[in-house]
Amino acid sequence: MQSDKVTPEDATRHNLGRLTSVLTEQHGRVLFPLVAGLESVDVFSDMRLSSPRRLAELGSAWMARRLRTAPMPPSILPVGGTQAALLLLIPHLVARGGRIAVEALTHSVAHKLFAHLGLCNVAISMDDRGLVPAALHNLCKSRGVDAIYINPSLHNPTTSTLSVERLSDIAEIAAKFDVQVIEDDVMGALADEPPATLRSMIPDRHWYISGLGKAVALGLRCSFVVAPDEGRLISLLDGLDGVNFYSPTMFHGYVAERVLAGQLADLLTRATREELAIRHELAADVLSGVDYRADRCGPHLWLPASAEQEARIFRRLDGAGVHATGSASFCLRDDADHPHGIRLSLTSTQDREALSRALLVFRSALG
Ligand SMILES: Cc1ncc(COP(=O)(O)O)c(C=O)c1O
Repeated sequence: MQSDKVTPEDATRHNLGRLTSVLTEQHGRVLFPLVAGLESVDVFSDMRLSSPRRLAELGSAWMARRLRTAPMPPSILPVGGTQAALLLLIPHLVARGGRIAVEALTHSVAHKLFAHLGLCNVAISMDDRGLVPAALHNLCKSRGVDAIYINPSLHNPTTSTLSVERLSDIAEIAAKFDVQVIEDDVMGALADEPPATLRSMIPDRHWYISGLGKAVALGLRCSFVVAPDEGRLISLLDGLDGVNFYSPTMFHGYVAERVLAGQLADLLTRATREELAIRHELAADVLSGVDYRADRCGPHLWLPASAEQEARIFRRLDGAGVHATGSASFCLRDDADHPHGIRLSLTSTQDREALSRALLVFRSALG
């Protein structure tokens, strides 16, 4: 274990809030030659460096492990990251002014995008095991919702994974109230044992989003939207001929195609998992005795706290130069009852020693 004599300057260089782009040496070995290879490709005269159909086929094979069956390629749309997927999909499912149910804590991008799209976000209460189905049922019954958006596995920020029982309750509620469900499974491919998904439970009202940006290479903006069937994908794109804000950029599509075509994607996921396992051990060492939640396959730690504890820890961190993310970044603006806590990212730096030092500063801020 490191000494806890850390200057704020040391810690500031490596924070616990953001993501680095190349996590392991293995990532560098795989990705750098691909980028170098671009120099020998006539990028600008060949606009079809990666074709959507080919990427959909490769995505289908890649998602088969996670979904336990390969989704049909004509129902898959490759997109330039999960945010692009949401920007395209959500207005298709929920009209402006409509209501979308989201977990009381969820990644800030979802809140911001849904508000930008003119939707009313309603919070589903959560406990230690994720969203509470009874609370979702009450929302659907008392306030009515037009769609449900969930982040079911290795949840950002609380790290929990929904059990099969909770998933089947959600499926039942969605069918009962006739709502579509968007399952944002951006971390799911990191799990050793693929958790259950809603796909087989409500195939006709289930929109699944997965991607390479966490489980294969941080920041690789190639994701997939899996529609309930081919016809529903066609209607999603209806009237959008020639509109193309959502596809992966040429560069990301090119890299995605090459890592998915061979064994490289799996190799990189294994490297990510191994690195995360080491970092979780390191965090367990530095934070021994601290009550926090984590899944060793995921990139985050979550420290539940009261509102007062959270505020106190942030006041101390402020002077110490360590960046972490508080519950205000994950809750709905008007939800006074949201759970409080602090999220730490284990993937903010390539340098494990810097991570330990930042964690040590964090630990001393706990008092
Ligand atoms: C649950 C979830 N969905 C979506 C995103 C954004 O994904 P992308 O970078 O692929 O747009 C994040 C980012 O952390 C996330 O945690």
